[in-house]
Amino acid sequence: MPTRRDFIKVAAGTAVGTSMCAVLAEDVFAMTEQDTFEQDSFEQDSFEQDSFEQDSSKIPSHAAFGLDGLHGEAAKKKMFFGSATSENRIITDIPYRTALVRESGIIVPEYEMKWDIMRPSATTYNFADADFMINFARQNGLAVRGHTLCWHRALPSWFASTANSRNAAQLLTEHIATVCGRYKGRIHSWDVVNEAIEPTDRQTNGLRNSPWFRLLGESYIETAFRAAHQADPASLLVYNEYGVEFDDMQRSDAILNLLRRLKARNVPLHALGVQGHIRAADKAKFAANMQRFRTFLRDVAALGLSIIITELDCDDTALASNITARDEGVGGMYGDYCSVVMNEPAVIGIITWGLTDKYTSLNSTNPRADRLPQRPLPLDANMVRKNAWYALEYWFKNTTQRPRQTITSVAEERIAPTHRLRCVPHTHRSECAIQFTLERSEDVLLRLVDVRGQDVQILAQTRLEAGEHHVVLNYAPFPAGVYFCILQSPSFLVSEKILLQK
Ligand code: XIL
Repeated sequence: MPTRRDFIKVAAGTAVGTSMCAVLAEDVFAMTEQDTFEQDSFEQDSFEQDSFEQDSSKIPSHAAFGLDGLHGEAAKKKMFFGSATSENRIITDIPYRTALVRESGIIVPEYEMKWDIMRPSATTYNFADADFMINFARQNGLAVRGHTLCWHRALPSWFASTANSRNAAQLLTEHIATVCGRYKGRIHSWDVVNEAIEPTDRQTNGLRNSPWFRLLGESYIETAFRAAHQADPASLLVYNEYGVEFDDMQRSDAILNLLRRLKARNVPLHALGVQGHIRAADKAKFAANMQRFRTFLRDVAALGLSIIITELDCDDTALASNITARDEGVGGMYGDYCSVVMNEPAVIGIITWGLTDKYTSLNSTNPRADRLPQRPLPLDANMVRKNAWYALEYWFKNTTQRPRQTITSVAEERIAPTHRLRCVPHTHRSECAIQFTLERSEDVLLRLVDVRGQDVQILAQTRLEAGEHHVVLNYAPFPAGVYFCILQSPSFLVSEKILLQK
């Protein structure tokens, strides 16, 4: 039975954007005025809906969210599947958009959250594109990965002439505070630092000789993680890296040692992102190094970190032009890759770098000699499932169930009820009982959003102890309709649909 202390009453009449929105049990769910403020300004300036919303007849509804796509399969094992995408293709390509929502439970903006898009100048921000992506995700029941807060590439042209060793730390922390702060509670996981290791650069600890390293030394990595955690304590923070699959032990050792140093210094780091840009040309090399790759993943898991495959695709330049043979070669690599990563329980999800061959960036970064378009992704250019798709499906069906679900959506709640979050509207009063169970003490954010993904009310944001928690939402002030209650922490994000009736 819940204790009195566990019960939290939420006050009425307080949509976000008007005034303080929650009255909470004394010391349990404290929310500061500043938190409310941040939320307010976020609502006002960012989610004035854009052109996409005017086109809402074409948005797949939550009901269209696929149970039969890859994410539906992944969710049965408490894993997730998602893909990188971008604004233009979502707006212009309806068959693609439908496939994206059917197959994915989480999306990653391929460009929209990189510095060169977000930072037109040292003092200004462009949020429009990232806002679009986050709105789209919300409207379609998808989670979002943030990519990326600190990288040596995609830096704007002003960076080189503006950043120096005196202002670089401030530039970095301000950027992270602003961007993570704006999207606080909306990002499943952040790629906080991307690709910081490059042993061939011959710097201390195998670190890449990147602009950030030159300006700040190794400390920039810790600075970035601490700033991200401070701005968005409920988001899963990821160090994202490539080149751990093959025989370059110098690389993987340097990565592992970096993770160890960060953990030893108690840096808020929760997961390793393994990019997974593989090549059909490396089939034999991959097979020869599978055991090392397995050991690497196990060593990462032993640090208490989760692992996400963040950018999987398979370059087919080494394969002859025949389409069937190429699809078999690429699908075979997906299968080999999954046979390693799916068997490591710390791997919680797989993201492909694009969903369909139609938009793969490999055609520009690594074109085939015969000029045929590459076929590196699960769907072909007509959204038809290929061998790579079936390889992923096979492995999601045949992998072991993970202990905890880290994201769920409305659809998943139907597939695999976790009972982690339950929302039961009262039959007579305008009240809804919200109940959830934490397996351990966590920083949580609990909120009510409408069907467009707009925050209606922040119900709680604080650190909570393990155990069962109860919140009573008084929804008298809100119009009747469909809402979503979203509970997020660094280790999971669950949502439940609520039909509020008067
Ligand atoms: C890539 C995009 O896909 C390309 O279109 C762009 O030209 C360069 O960036 N690792 C990453 C991603 O973390 O952000 C990169 O994305 C691919 C490599």
